[in-house]
This record gives sequence, C-alpha cells and structure tokens, in this order.
Amino acid sequence: MTRLLVTGSSGMLGANLALLAQEMGFEVLGWTNSRPLVNAPFVTRPVDFLNQPALAQAFKAAQPDALINCAAQANVDAAEKQPGVAFRINADAAGELALLARIAEIPMIQVSTDAVFDGTQGNYRETDTPNPLNTYAKSKLAGEQAVAEANPAAVIARVDFYGWSLTGTRSLAEFFFNNLTAGKPVNGFTDMFFSPLYVGHLAKTLLEMLERRLGGIYHVYSSESLSKYDFGVRLAQEFGLDASLIRPISALDSDLLARRSLNLSMNTDKLQAALGKPLPSQAEGLHALHADLDSGLRQKLLSLDH
Ligand SMILES: NC(=O)c1ccc[n+]([C@@H]2O[C@H](COP(=O)([O-])OP(=O)(O)OC[C@H]3O[C@@H](n4cnc5c(N)ncnc54)[C@H](OP(=O)(O)O)[C@@H]3O)[C@@H](O)[C@H]2O)c1
Repeated sequence: MTRLLVTGSSGMLGANLALLAQEMGFEVLGWTNSRPLVNAPFVTRPVDFLNQPALAQAFKAAQPDALINCAAQANVDAAEKQPGVAFRINADAAGELALLARIAEIPMIQVSTDAVFDGTQGNYRETDTPNPLNTYAKSKLAGEQAVAEANPAAVIARVDFYGWSLTGTRSLAEFFFNNLTAGKPVNGFTDMFFSPLYVGHLAKTLLEMLERRLGGIYHVYSSESLSKYDFGVRLAQEFGLDASLIRPISALDSDLLARRSLNLSMNTDKLQAALGKPLPSQAEGLHALHADLDSGLRQKLLSLDH
C-alpha cells in the first residue's frame, strides 16, 4: 500500500484529494496547520510551514512513499498584506519539501497555479513565459523554481479548480451555488477567462500522474475554457437555478485588492498526450459536482470542519 503524504489536507484540494486517495486504497497521512480536522478517515498531523525544523522532522517521521504538496497561503489578499509569510509557505517550504522528497527518493507533486501568467495571452502552454502580477502569484512561481531546483524529477502541476469545501464557501462554484440557491443576485465577470477542473477530477488526475511517474511542469485543467460569468450560468443550468440572477460585469469595474490576470485559459495538450485521453469538459465537471452533492460528499467535507 502506498503511504501518501497530503499537505494542506484541511484545505479544499487537500481534503478532497485525501478523501479520494483513502477511498482508492492509499494509506493517507494528512498535514494540517491551524484547522484540525474532526473525525477524518485518515491520520492527520498539524505541521506549520513557518517552522522549518518542525517541517523536516515531521517529514522524517512520516516516512511517505509519495508526496502531494497542497498546502499554501492561497488567499491572494492575505499574501499581498504579508508577503514574507506567503514566500516562506509557498516558496521556501515547497523547496525544502522537494529536497526532502529527493533525498528520500519518493515522487512529489507541487501544486501551483495559472496565476503565474499575466493573462494577456490566454491558451497558455507549459513553455510560455510566466509573468506573475501579485504577491501570491510571485510566491507560487518562486515555489515552482525552488522545487525544480531542489528536485528536477518532481511534477509541478499548475491548477485551477472548483468543488465542495470544508467551509462551504471556498470555491467559485460554492459562491454561485450558495447565492443562487438563496435567490440572491451576484456579479459574474465576462472578461475573466479560466479553465477550471472539478476538484474530484483534479484529485484523480494528480494520483494518475503520480502513478505514471510524470515529471516537470504540467497544466492540469479542463479541456474547455470559459468566462467566470459563463461558468456561473452553466452551473445555474446544471442545478436548475435562476441564471438571470447573475449580472454580467467587467472585472475592471470591481474593487479587488490584488491585481488579477484576465485571460487564464490554459492549454492542456501536454497532459492529454501523456495520459492518452482527454481531460474533462465543463459539462462533465459540473455533472460530477452535482453527483457529489447528491452522494453526500459536500456534507462529509463540512463535517470535517469543527
Ligand atoms: N483554489 C483554487 O482555485 C486554486 C487555484 C490555483 C491554484 N491553487 C493552489 O492549489 C493548492 C490548494 O489550494 P486550496 O484552495 O485547496 O487552498 P486552501 O483551501 O486555502 O487550503 C490551504 C491549505 O494550506 C494550509 N496552510 C496554510 N498555511 C500553512 C502553514 N503555515 N503551514 C502549513 N500548512 C498551511 C492550510 O492549513 P489550515 O487551514 O489548517 O491552516 C490548508 O490546509 C494551493 O497550492 C493553491 O496555491 C488553488
């Protein structure tokens, strides 16, 4: 049985990934930080990436066979306010984990982001040059570089995803679902493009990438890109909610603190070729989101949060 270390297992991706991996027969060890999980069906341990000696000690004690680093300061506005903390967690700690994984001779996936691009081009390939606009994105790019330097065999998986979370409010899908279910009007950006993958599909794909021993940078996204407004409309249609509550607006008219990239549509040819199959469409992702609501996954995730 593979002993899989999932950092950030109290976060949205980490929790979904840890639950799926556990179900698939991995022995999961989940690291958390400030949020202990309640009744998690896998072993958890708090490890603060701001404490470097504790990180190394905890890794040695864990003795994993594989590592997926989902932990991050992923709050864009918080990173803007505390850049030192963001760089420590997103860059330095990622590089330290990559070195530990190389010494232990285990495969590692570093989870990164499409925000490393400035969004002026779109249809980004792995070979395109990053140009991060805000502190969060700069710290994640520094994390990619630290990981690649310490451990050239590691996978750097650039992602963007939606799904059900422990707080019930973490993802864009939950933003639209919660507001539209309550009959509340919301804004949807018509000029911000992305290629989000349903988190369940992302988790499964990351495990497949580990199994196939891929290495290097990969774009792990839906095969289909769309605007955030269109995503909201398609989610409303999937759940039978009122799409007319979504007001189409320009992101340039919003008051976001940190600068955001506008066109983050991503090219997934490299990963589709490596896996020998297409990545899911938006319709497939939204159906899976719906099916996981019906199967009780949303409740299960909410119950992990105290
Ligand atoms: N959400 C998205 O759509 C998106 C898009 C692109 C890329 N990503 C990347 O995907 C990954 C997962 O994102 P997410 O949305 O799942 O994040 P999230 O829900 O914000 O979770 C972040 C996780 O990191 C942990 N963490 C934060 N500070 C830490 C510290 N000092 N030491 C150790 N762990 C710490 C948190 O632990 P506690 O909660 O216990 O404190 C939590 O488990 C990140 O690498 C992020 O950059 C996310």
